Amino acid sequence: MKNIAILCSGGDVSGMNPALKHFVEYAKDKELTPYFVYDGYEGLIDNNIQEASYSDVSGIITRGGTKIRSSRSKRFLQKSYRKIAKENLDALHIDKLIVLGGDGSFAGMNIFCQEHDLSFCGIPSTIDNDIYGTEYCLGVDTALNVIKTSIDAIRDTASSFSRAFVVETMGRKCGYLALVSALTSGAELCVIKEKEISLDHYKDDFLKQKENGRKYFLGIISEGATQSASELAEWFEKEIGIETRICVLGHIQRGGNPTIYDRLMAYKFVSKAIDGLLNQEKQSVICYTKKGFEYKSIEEVTSKKYELDSELLAYS
Ligand code: F6P
Repeated sequence: MKNIAILCSGGDVSGMNPALKHFVEYAKDKELTPYFVYDGYEGLIDNNIQEASYSDVSGIITRGGTKIRSSRSKRFLQKSYRKIAKENLDALHIDKLIVLGGDGSFAGMNIFCQEHDLSFCGIPSTIDNDIYGTEYCLGVDTALNVIKTSIDAIRDTASSFSRAFVVETMGRKCGYLALVSALTSGAELCVIKEKEISLDHYKDDFLKQKENGRKYFLGIISEGATQSASELAEWFEKEIGIETRICVLGHIQRGGNPTIYDRLMAYKFVSKAIDGLLNQEKQSVICYTKKGFEYKSIEEVTSKKYELDSELLAYS
């Protein structure tokens, strides 16, 4: 069969639109007919699947989010709905599917592929960067740059007002965004689940720095950390004696103009996914490691837990 489809599942990332653009172009180069599944697995169930053309993807390269929308589908957890999804693909003679998503989306696809004969390729796409087997997930660079711009701006007001700021990043249960952002923005404190810290350990040093003229502090905390942003802010106020504000960056981290790196990675991930599907890679995820791009089985990727790079942790 010559029909291939793509869908986005779970949290959207900047880089999905460049990936969709390249999907249409590269599929056509390879004489495949590209299809878009709108609204993630929900669209697979509701048969919201349409052939994609060049005009569908013109002008989208600069936009964050995903033109074909995404969802977290509860119905796809049920076997009966997965059966409907397969029937919809069969009706359109689609036997190759690319999914841009995170570990939850891949876990769903793993079950789907065990139940039905389908060639599947996953492209790791989540700002959390928490998928086992890959060192990079699409969208992470743009998210880090959004965070960088935000922290740089917060530094301006923190230093002007002699305040401490506690900045909360996303990441669900993974501290990657917080860790890299803290390192690259020169924050005084980084609080993540993966590295237990005792605030007492910092107290004397921070008080000494204050005595020596330090006027402001920046603390970065990841969502999912053992402490909360408000506990940390309270600590700054009570123990360090500095007025403190909290800034929860939230969903702005998921949007914005995709960086050059994410545009390039989108192109590479999609090319590898299509090449893999044409070369009998039946149920894999394209992973990016120190060795470059590798196809790993969906079974392996979904059965193990991502761990933060120990070298990166050691810097913090
Ligand atoms: O997985 C991406 C992510 O942005 C997480 O960092 C965050 O915890 C979650 O999604 C937020 O989900 P929602 O968009 O449903 O609020």
